[in-house]
Amino acid sequence: MAEIKRVAVLGAGTMGAGIAQIAATAGMDVRLRDVADGPIQKGLETIRSSLDRIVAKAAKAGKATMTDAARTEVLGRIRTTTSLDEAVADADLVVEAIPERMDWKKECLASVEAAAPAHAVLATNTSSLSITDIASAAKDPSRVVGMHFFNPVPVMELLEVVRGLRTSDAAVAAARATGERMGKTVIVVRDSPGFATSRLGVCLAAEAIRMLESGVASAEDIDRAMELGYRHPMGPLRLTDLVGLDVRLAILDHLHREVGEQFRPPPLLRQLVRAGKLGKKTGEGFYRWEK
Ligand code: CAA
Repeated sequence: MAEIKRVAVLGAGTMGAGIAQIAATAGMDVRLRDVADGPIQKGLETIRSSLDRIVAKAAKAGKATMTDAARTEVLGRIRTTTSLDEAVADADLVVEAIPERMDWKKECLASVEAAAPAHAVLATNTSSLSITDIASAAKDPSRVVGMHFFNPVPVMELLEVVRGLRTSDAAVAAARATGERMGKTVIVVRDSPGFATSRLGVCLAAEAIRMLESGVASAEDIDRAMELGYRHPMGPLRLTDLVGLDVRLAILDHLHREVGEQFRPPPLLRQLVRAGKLGKKTGEGFYRWEK
């Protein structure tokens, strides 16, 4: 298996920016693509501020793991573009990290396959959508693999690699090797609704929201219960604010359709999403967030 040297990341949102950052930190040349300059600049800002935290943390610990010079090198390895064709033209690996819409992901994959080199592995970062279904939009679905990263991408240790029904061993091996180079611990799971992570993660979130709806306790106390009683780094409601209420609603809707009644989204979650309260990214969800 040839080493992945050039990575195209499609989508400069929270996940895409994080993936671009860790790929560049691992020494890969990155092309970060979004549809307009606005989201690209926002993505670069996310990357700069994350690298600042990592530089400050290394300096405090007296370690040379990330210096100012290394930060500049990492940023220098990330080039941006609004052209999809340009982004993927010489990529060894394409990681698509656009919003969780099956129709968009399929359309994107078909365009990527037409423009990317024949050897490129085509990965999709999805938290629950079927890799087999997304891959059906490709002429060669064996090149398509799931690479599910976690937010904040530079901090979270896990990469969940998802094998679709027709994903080749070579594509799984490339995704695994790339994840390990990025410093992640990799698990490989079979394509099934919500994989190993989201299926369990949204259960806890949905139940916490139902408890809030029925007045069991305040949001703060429900979160405290899990943070202090179970040592979760963040309670399920605060975590839903971090992930995005819209993202979690989309996962629940999908699992409700695919798996069953236990995943029916709580009405409060749908209401908050309709009100535009999507969590940290919009300044309000279950909590209010300062800039
Ligand atoms: N970039 C770089 N470093 C970061 C960072 C970022 N974006 N965010 C946090 N950090 C670092 C901080 O610098 C800090 O380092 P030190 O402890 O060495 O000083 C450390 O991470 C902890 O950060 P904070 O002190 O700011 O806050 P915290 O202790 O509350 O940790 C957290 C923040 C890492 C987010 C932690 O609360 C956590 O792990 N929460 C759970 C996150 C989680 O479950 N994510 C998965 C969500 S599901 C998902 O993403 C997938 C999906 O499909 C939707």
